[in-house]
Amino acid sequence: MTSPFLNSSSRLSLSSKLHLSNQFRHLLLLPPLHTAPNSKISCSVSQNNQAPVAVQDNGSVKTKKECYGVFCLTYDLKAEEETKSWKKMINIAVSGAAGMISNHLLFKLASGSVFGPDQPIALKLLGSERSIQALEGVAMELEDSLFPLLREVDIGTDPYEVFQDVEWALLIGAKPRGPGMERAALLDINGQIFAEQGKALNAVASPNVKVLVVGNPCNTNALICLKNAPNIPAKNFHALTRLDENRAKCQLALKAGVFYDKVSNMTIWGNHSTTQVPDFLNARINGRPVKEVITDHKWLEEGFTESVQKRGGLLIQKWGRSSAASTAVSIVDAIKSLVTPTPEGDWFSTGVYTNGNPYGIAKDLVFSMPCRSTGDGDYELVKDVEFDDYLRNRIAKSEAELLAEKKCVAHLTGDGIAFCDLGPVDTMLPGEV
Ligand code: LMR
Repeated sequence: MTSPFLNSSSRLSLSSKLHLSNQFRHLLLLPPLHTAPNSKISCSVSQNNQAPVAVQDNGSVKTKKECYGVFCLTYDLKAEEETKSWKKMINIAVSGAAGMISNHLLFKLASGSVFGPDQPIALKLLGSERSIQALEGVAMELEDSLFPLLREVDIGTDPYEVFQDVEWALLIGAKPRGPGMERAALLDINGQIFAEQGKALNAVASPNVKVLVVGNPCNTNALICLKNAPNIPAKNFHALTRLDENRAKCQLALKAGVFYDKVSNMTIWGNHSTTQVPDFLNARINGRPVKEVITDHKWLEEGFTESVQKRGGLLIQKWGRSSAASTAVSIVDAIKSLVTPTPEGDWFSTGVYTNGNPYGIAKDLVFSMPCRSTGDGDYELVKDVEFDDYLRNRIAKSEAELLAEKKCVAHLTGDGIAFCDLGPVDTMLPGEV
């Protein structure tokens, strides 16, 4: 039997009212909502019908029928004045919304620390049938957090509903590789998810939606997604390699004995996998080339490079699960890098479409490269980067790996019949051993 959530999204709207639609309230054992015609805010999860209150112009508090206590006191108090200067609300979709990464991410998004303190947002949360109860739990926690900027929360399992009019799609949900699963099988299973989500974005999202793919293998998933969304500019699709950039900065800072804010111009080239290339040739510490500051070049080529490539795996050993909080932080960093101007002389890494790249990397891949942004959500590739033989060879290895992955998913990208001949150590995710 199908869940009642399968074909519909339930909406928690904070802008004019905050509720689970009555259709679903019985599942939470809540009484139906009776929304007054001019209601401002009501809280779906309030178990005790406290005397509702409203704040008057003179600051006094008066009871009001259609408003639940704590929301009126903490949120509506300043809303009238504050909202006048707010920007137009943006819609943000998050898939895998009941997972660990999202559990960190959603609260950062809702707090205003990503898009700014004057940017109201609507969160559109996509989950699986299995996770729908947990998704409701997430939505309830968002309610209970009283974020003034969070105007709406929708939950659902159908990407065609959840992605409606979204301006950002943060695609986190993917299947982890199970025991004994071939890498080709993982590429196929997750590829199908991202093919479907690409189609859904193409059909219902805002035409200039920015898409950040986090679910692994994220580069190839992003490629599949963009190939299935021909109406959305291919440039708008990103694979998350910001976590790798952050890890690389941390390792260089540790070795150089400086705080990590002194490390700049850090590029991750290639695949979010163990072939990724953390570029110490172009990176800088206190504005100086890394190789001048860290003279142990053997360490840079071997110890440093490997520590970044395999950091995810080390974390899994320690935690017993993949990184979640630092991944969420890096998603925040990745978005902020696109919505704020890049500091003069610096750049950031993101996995983007290779067509037109100035580095000679094969076209039609999603490859991590150095970018700059003027803060409008768009980016340009950085032109003035140096290459040496070491860097070129390493980049070529990651490029070859992505070309091999692409062949495995040809049936999902419209490129004919898939042929998968991945070697035994190719396409290892950072967390795989
Ligand atoms: C990470 O880099 O921490 C994750 O992508 C690891 C993984 O393989 O899931």
